[in-house]
Amino acid sequence: MKKNEKATDAIISRYKAGRRDDLIPLLQEIQEETGYLSEEAIRKVGKLMGLSTTKIYGLATFYDQFRFTPRGKYHLVVCNGTSCYLNGAGAIVGKIKEELGIEPGETTRDGKFSYELSSCMGGCMHGPILVVNGKYNLKLKPEHVQSIIDMLRKESEKL
Ligand code: FES
Repeated sequence: MKKNEKATDAIISRYKAGRRDDLIPLLQEIQEETGYLSEEAIRKVGKLMGLSTTKIYGLATFYDQFRFTPRGKYHLVVCNGTSCYLNGAGAIVGKIKEELGIEPGETTRDGKFSYELSSCMGGCMHGPILVVNGKYNLKLKPEHVQSIIDMLRKESEKL
């Protein structure tokens, strides 16, 4: 059994069958642990809750926090809260899109990059903020995005 599958089973085992109020917290917990919601995880959650997978997908896609594909080796999070947005987060997102050719929530075909937008990270004075695998880049400008991605590409080639 794969690591993510084991983790998913362990989380599901802590929830009671049929308690639909638990659905979103359960999905959040699985995503937090495994990085995304796999088809298999959704099927298992559906079985526990007595809901069809279609219904769960429908609900989960309503909340834009859920991902259905694994994260890339490098996962970028752009703060899109009001302050960062007013300070140019839109241009940062535009540059990432241009560089990687993907939308928020997607992963590049080579599995190297993914990105998502976040609500306020609580550091508004330092925005716009871009977090790469947990490392914060503050007061970011669109021209920095290119060099960060180039550096990550080079780093991934060395590994
Ligand atoms: S809006 Fe980005 S840190 Fe607050």
